[in-house]
Amino acid sequence: MSEQQQTQRRRQAFYQRIGGDNLTPLWEVFHDLVARTPKTTALPAHWRYSDVRPFVLESGDLITAKEAERRVLVLENPGLRGQSRITQSLYAGLQLILPGEVAPAHRHTQSALRFIVEGEGAYTAVEGERTLMSPGDFVITPAWTWHDHGNESDRPMVWLDGLDVPIVGLFNATFAESYPHDNQAPTRPEGDALARYGSGLLPVDHRAASPASPVFNYPYSRTREALETMRRAEEWDRCHGLKLKFVNPATGGHAMPTMATFMQLLPKGFATAPYCATDGTVFAVVEGSGRTRVGDATFDWGPKDVFVIPNWHRHTHEADEDAVLFSFSDRPLQEVAGIWREERGPA
Ligand SMILES: [Fe+2]
Repeated sequence: MSEQQQTQRRRQAFYQRIGGDNLTPLWEVFHDLVARTPKTTALPAHWRYSDVRPFVLESGDLITAKEAERRVLVLENPGLRGQSRITQSLYAGLQLILPGEVAPAHRHTQSALRFIVEGEGAYTAVEGERTLMSPGDFVITPAWTWHDHGNESDRPMVWLDGLDVPIVGLFNATFAESYPHDNQAPTRPEGDALARYGSGLLPVDHRAASPASPVFNYPYSRTREALETMRRAEEWDRCHGLKLKFVNPATGGHAMPTMATFMQLLPKGFATAPYCATDGTVFAVVEGSGRTRVGDATFDWGPKDVFVIPNWHRHTHEADEDAVLFSFSDRPLQEVAGIWREERGPA
């Protein structure tokens, strides 16, 4: 037996002995724990809306929104199957609510965002206020707020759900409750939160009671108008085109404490410089078409498609026509922890 084999044997015997006391040697795992650059098994992936829409609608024949509690097809990262997650830290799914249906009121410690993909006129109610939803609207249900959804329109409604389920899971801090009735009784008039907090004004003695934005619907009409007006200045970021983040007007911080949300405009013909960041990001196409290249993959996207770029994956976007992309990630928590990092490629 060589000297090296003997050493290995002695080490293995040692590991076994200390294992009985719930001890393990760091040096065997150090380079996995403290990797030089981020490693993830998450993969870039693209869900074409034309491919998945039939399945979403078919789920409407199988189960009611009420029986399912939430009728959602989870968008599972192909590198993380069976874990109900689209990136290492985030969950995403496509939710269907049919005319006349109600998704009953409940609350949970996970924060949720809805990004409206298809349909018009269904509502989300949060803490006693209803908001009607249209495509491109960004709606939030902050942690531990009562929320229910209903569709009083005559067409199916589909939205993208984004939740911090894996993050709350990491802390093992999940709580959930059902409301005694399917719907909350309205306690505030529709549009109250947007008027009160989302008009560049705040009630004079307002003190933020929660880290989440008190505005819970950011209508696409307003977001789109901001992009359209700002584009005239022709100030394009080489990695992002024109990119805005949704903020909590009471704090200036991200709209939600655990998830960052963005809307960006890529004008026709624009090709971004390579970019990567430590926050894996989910993109939803609102308008236009183009492509995103990441590694060996090219995603040719169009309206209503969803795609995901895992963390620290260098990518570029190109727009064939004016394109608007919504996106979300776990960036706020990384910023708080001082670990968020980006790498901007050459022009
Ligand atoms: Fe919920």
